Amino acid sequence: QQEDKKEHFTMDAPHVVVLPFPAQGHIKPMLMLAQLLCHGAGGFNITFVNTDHNHSRLLNLIDQTAFSRRFPTLQFMSIPDGLSPEHPRTGPSIVDLFFSTNSVSKPEFRNLIVSLSQEPTCIIADGTMSFAIDVADELGIPVITFRTYSATCTWIYFHLQKLIRNGEIPVVEGNGDMDKQISCIPGLENILRRRDLPSICKLEPDDPIMQFYITQTSKMTRASALILNTFQELETPIISHLQSIFPTVYTIGPLHTLIDSPSKNLSSLIQMDESCIKWLDSQHPKSVLYVSFGSVIVLSHDQLLEFWYGLVNSGKPFLWVIRPDLVVDNNEPNKIPDELKMATKERGCIVSWAPQEDILSHQAVGGFLTHSGWNSTLESITFGVPMICWPMITDQQVNSRCVSELWKVGFDMKDTCDRSTVEKFVRDVMEDRRQEIMESTVKNARLAHDSIHEGGSSYRNTKKLVQDIISIHL
Ligand code: UDX
Repeated sequence: QQEDKKEHFTMDAPHVVVLPFPAQGHIKPMLMLAQLLCHGAGGFNITFVNTDHNHSRLLNLIDQTAFSRRFPTLQFMSIPDGLSPEHPRTGPSIVDLFFSTNSVSKPEFRNLIVSLSQEPTCIIADGTMSFAIDVADELGIPVITFRTYSATCTWIYFHLQKLIRNGEIPVVEGNGDMDKQISCIPGLENILRRRDLPSICKLEPDDPIMQFYITQTSKMTRASALILNTFQELETPIISHLQSIFPTVYTIGPLHTLIDSPSKNLSSLIQMDESCIKWLDSQHPKSVLYVSFGSVIVLSHDQLLEFWYGLVNSGKPFLWVIRPDLVVDNNEPNKIPDELKMATKERGCIVSWAPQEDILSHQAVGGFLTHSGWNSTLESITFGVPMICWPMITDQQVNSRCVSELWKVGFDMKDTCDRSTVEKFVRDVMEDRRQEIMESTVKNARLAHDSIHEGGSSYRNTKKLVQDIISIHL
């Protein structure tokens, strides 16, 4: 039995249980919200529930005494994720967590909730962990669902059955109609092509993963409200559509801008290598391309080399995050051609995990080659850094399309990564076509900042969320 640190809780304050899906891109925004509710906006008591696997990773990296001093009413607890310790949790294996959490973590989560010494005022559960809605319903606890994707991708997930009925799913690569427009999703009629649909749309309709997405998306509608890490001005029409499904939609992003600097890096599951900041300090303003593919996707050794040649051939300085588990068939790690190693020594810097927000806000960074994870996309928009998008899974195909077609804050390199394409896109974003997107990039960064300042949309919605939780508690 884990220690329930109720003695540190503030008497009579609301108690919110926060349950993220066990992956970096979900834990980070949900922990930032938890910190905000605990410290700044709310003064609430928070129980943040990780899986055992991530619980130990996170706590190993946090200075726990300093953390408790800063967030005295935020306690971490954990439940099993149902996978063996050695089971991979990145790449294609990530979907195993959908099923294991639903069968194994669900009863454990229920046991944890009933064992808490202060009854929760409400549960804020990740949309991908919608089993929490069953638990909350059974125990009579209000529940709010937090979708860590964009509003646009969230809206598309509500149309999976319609896409199946209309014969748009499965999307078959290479059959020649990947550029066909998708016209059955209101608000996105002239935006989406088949190749821009979430990656799960390549699955057969009866595939268990497709069925999982359909079920959990529909279950989310039983929550009393939806939280999104986006801002009103970025996705106005789509947020209006979501308001026809959820009585309340709180758009409270970009969450990372609401958290002060010392607290930001407290949500990383991987040790950061800060040495790259020193390297950036020595580079010219806006000269460096930052490259990162987030915490989940994996590359083949061939893809790694194509990216590497493209970067080197572009002649631009680059800072690249290569996670130790990024390359899957890396049996011969020394098979990196000497010419690449030498060019990297001259004008590159490679780290295994980086303080991404410090990098994106650094004056030397002029562009971001990204996998279009939602957190990376939002961070890049906020810091006014134009993107090259190379999406691979889940929501990333949608994000990259919005970046290039809707918001015009970058270019979508989707589906190809041969060296000459990479080289061309790097030159485009850093030089040749930079002008096309900079006006919009600067404008969206300003809108993002305006939204979180007093009177801004995210500022107001965060206040409303706090007030609504207080009124449940009273
Ligand atoms: C996953 C999915 O892949 C993504 O599509 C979905 O939107 C969220 O869940 P992930 O792949 O990790 O997330 O990407 P992303 O959403 O971009 O989140 C990565 C986070 O890690 C970002 O907040 C980024 O700042 C941080 N990061 C990344 C670092 O702190 N250091 C790094 O070196 C790389």
